[in-house]
Amino acid sequence: MSEIHERKLEHLALCVREDVEGRGATLLGDVQLLHEALPDCSLDEVDPSVELFGHTLRAPIVIAGMTGGAPRAGEINRGLAAVAQKAGLAMGLGSQRALWKDASLLDSYRVRDVAPDILLFANLGAVQARDAGPAAVLDLIEAVGADALCVHLNVAQELVQDEGDRDFRGCLDAIAHLVDELPVPVVVKETGCGFSPATLARLRAAGVRCVDVSGAGGTSWTRVESLRGSRRQRELGETLRDWGVPTAAAIVYARRAGLEVLASGGVRDALDVVRSLALGASAVCLALPFLRAFEEGGERAAGALAERLCEGVRALLLLIGARTPRAARIAPRRIGPTLRGWLELDAECDATRAMPAGSES
Ligand code: FNR
Repeated sequence: MSEIHERKLEHLALCVREDVEGRGATLLGDVQLLHEALPDCSLDEVDPSVELFGHTLRAPIVIAGMTGGAPRAGEINRGLAAVAQKAGLAMGLGSQRALWKDASLLDSYRVRDVAPDILLFANLGAVQARDAGPAAVLDLIEAVGADALCVHLNVAQELVQDEGDRDFRGCLDAIAHLVDELPVPVVVKETGCGFSPATLARLRAAGVRCVDVSGAGGTSWTRVESLRGSRRQRELGETLRDWGVPTAAAIVYARRAGLEVLASGGVRDALDVVRSLALGASAVCLALPFLRAFEEGGERAAGALAERLCEGVRALLLLIGARTPRAARIAPRRIGPTLRGWLELDAECDATRAMPAGSES
């Protein structure tokens, strides 16, 4: 078994079994939506569907990219893709790094036969995208029949991993080339640490139009890594367990930067979905809840989760007097003090003051 293969299986097992979430909050709880006691419409008139990259999603929900590169991972991808197809949702594949290294692993990413119609995201780390170049990245996208690419950033996780990457130079340029050269949309996604206003400004300037914020408060990859590996890895992983920008703050920062937003990182129920929409997200992505549901009860349980979320979103839209996800953006709300504190950060000032490491030379 390859090193990547073995690590993937260990990650899946830890995520299913252990407490792998941040102890800090997403701060979505600081978005208190006001109840509309007199909505002048019927539940049937509420339309939770959204358009994303030319596809219609029945509700603004994406099963986030998680896995690939091993037979077990293939079962999960195919099962969740079938759920997305049936529920009318979108889905991401996990990192295709393993496939880039070994083309024989394609089967574990093959989902189009069970999910011909869904909006499907390919996935590759920025470091691998930098090293592979746009032509090889396009091959990876076409190999799985994806409609768009997620380029993931996971610096904190890599630094914790004993065997992780240490050289992150050139990733922004690589992303800019992908945006220019690929015939499909490019989404830049974090993996649990969110984005600062300064980073978002640099992504926007590089031509990026959409981010998946994957903020702090949900699955913590530094935490996952702290549950395996050497003493160094365990200690640094635990220190960084809650590192990052909370999901709710990252959504607002990204909207302020003029980006389309997919919201993820600790989105756990329909209320979190609608709170994210209220902050300006176009759709949300959930990873851990779908993995756990699938591992517990297969397609039936993951499908039930999808249905619960869709029904809850429709109910909540009615309860805030919004007929569509877009209308949630103007729903009356109270923002709690902690989130308000994060949002008082002046995006302009932050962008000029916080120079990325290496840019001062
Ligand atoms: C992930 N995530 C992830 N992201 C990515 O871009 N490429 C990947 O290969 C993976 N792999 C992966 C495996 C597992 C088991 C989980 C739970 C997650 C991150 C994921 O897409 C998402 O951004 C975060 O997990 C935050 O969402 P949740 O889990 O808090 O809903």
